[in-house]
Amino acid sequence: MLVTLSEILKDANERHYAVGAFNCLSLENVMGALEAAEDLRSPIILQLAEVQFPEAPMELMAPLYLEAAKRSSVPVCVHLDHGQSLETCVRAIRLGFTSVMFDGAALPFEENVGITSEVTRIAKAAGVDVEAELGKVGNSGVDTADVFTDVDESVRFVQKTGIDALAVAIGNLHGHYVHTPQLNIKRLIEIHEANRLPLVLHGGSGTSEEDFKACIHNGICKINVATAIQRRIMKHIQERLAQKPDEEYVPLKQVMIDASREVVTEHIQLFESSPLLAPPTGSTNN
Ligand code: 13P
Repeated sequence: MLVTLSEILKDANERHYAVGAFNCLSLENVMGALEAAEDLRSPIILQLAEVQFPEAPMELMAPLYLEAAKRSSVPVCVHLDHGQSLETCVRAIRLGFTSVMFDGAALPFEENVGITSEVTRIAKAAGVDVEAELGKVGNSGVDTADVFTDVDESVRFVQKTGIDALAVAIGNLHGHYVHTPQLNIKRLIEIHEANRLPLVLHGGSGTSEEDFKACIHNGICKINVATAIQRRIMKHIQERLAQKPDEEYVPLKQVMIDASREVVTEHIQLFESSPLLAPPTGSTNN
């Protein structure tokens, strides 16, 4: 069933688990991700980032995401990841996305507040939720100075913009890590204590299990995973092609679905979002 971001994150926020947000670039990705979610009875977020539009145009992907979500027996949120402008967010809203992210993290604080507030005003009128980012989540391989989310700024930002979820920068990076990152959990705890809304961790690929657990028990309710999916698909395709290099036709569709299902299953287990597995370890209800 198709749901909004705040609907899907409410229980996660109360019971201390995270819902996986998986960037899916193909039919096979979407099918594999939803098979994993349904097998484990877990909620899931399908998302597409604006930088991915050249590979997977939003207007083509939206009907796929939305139809898959509506047919699913588990809650599915369809989310725009890293929208770069108000216009992109409005396009996503018109296409039926149930949640949009405006990423103004590179902008001066007041400008980020201004555009995010405008996105929120329009999205709310359409019944759509909003995620925004404060502090800078870098790209792996790129030098990052101290760009962690500032606690006081986060409080002002959340109050002024009326967003539903806040993406934080606590040492996380997008892409494949050269070294396993050390997340600043102390900063996360401070942000969580100051703000009660669901927090989002970007750059999930390559994060250690220990850091994932520390995050989901300290306010992170949504974790974005992109690189790990595409790398797993690539690996499975390489292995499959190597099995019979002289084969004239290699059916790769199922290989891609299986790789997507496998990697999404692993993350659902790590994020503790499946009621079929042990109750969330941070839960007060267990
Ligand atoms: P990774 O590619 O590091 O998993 O990051 C995904 C992400 O944060 C998308 O917004």
